[in-house]
Amino acid sequence: MENSKVKILFVCLGNICRSPAAEAIFSQKAISAGVAGRLEIDSAGLNGYHDGEPADQRMIRHASQRGYKITSVSRKIIPSRDFVYFDMIVGMDNFNFKELKRLASPFGAQEKVFKMTDFASKCSANEVPDPYYGGAAGFENVLDILEDCSEGLLNNIEL
Ligand code: 4NP
Repeated sequence: MENSKVKILFVCLGNICRSPAAEAIFSQKAISAGVAGRLEIDSAGLNGYHDGEPADQRMIRHASQRGYKITSVSRKIIPSRDFVYFDMIVGMDNFNFKELKRLASPFGAQEKVFKMTDFASKCSANEVPDPYYGGAAGFENVLDILEDCSEGLLNNIEL
């Protein structure tokens, strides 16, 4: 049933590195678990600096080496729509989380806001750090954290 889908929006700052990777990894894990049809998955950024652009080429390359295809196009979050439409809005770091809580407040949607590392199981990270200004190790670290947290999130939701 269309309206029984759990709708999840992943959010970072620019929507070109972390949240597009989260979207691709979580989607792939949902497909592997046979539950993709029960989910609607999207990503957005807090700023619109990269609106309409594909994800960062470095992130696309690192993710593809692990078998994930990142296809999303950057868009800015639309609070009046996204906080109503989505069931869970999942930020990547502490700043994202704080901003999402603030933006959700006028829509009474603060309880929909989470941080990706809330769902960590094996890793001990408490946020997904911004890899934009760093090197290859930063992108690999983001992917490690996202793989772990995506599994945790998938196990956490009732489908
Ligand atoms: P993201 O990384 O939030 O993981 O997409 C960033 C990419 C670009 C910018 C900031 C963060 N930027 O401001 O250009």
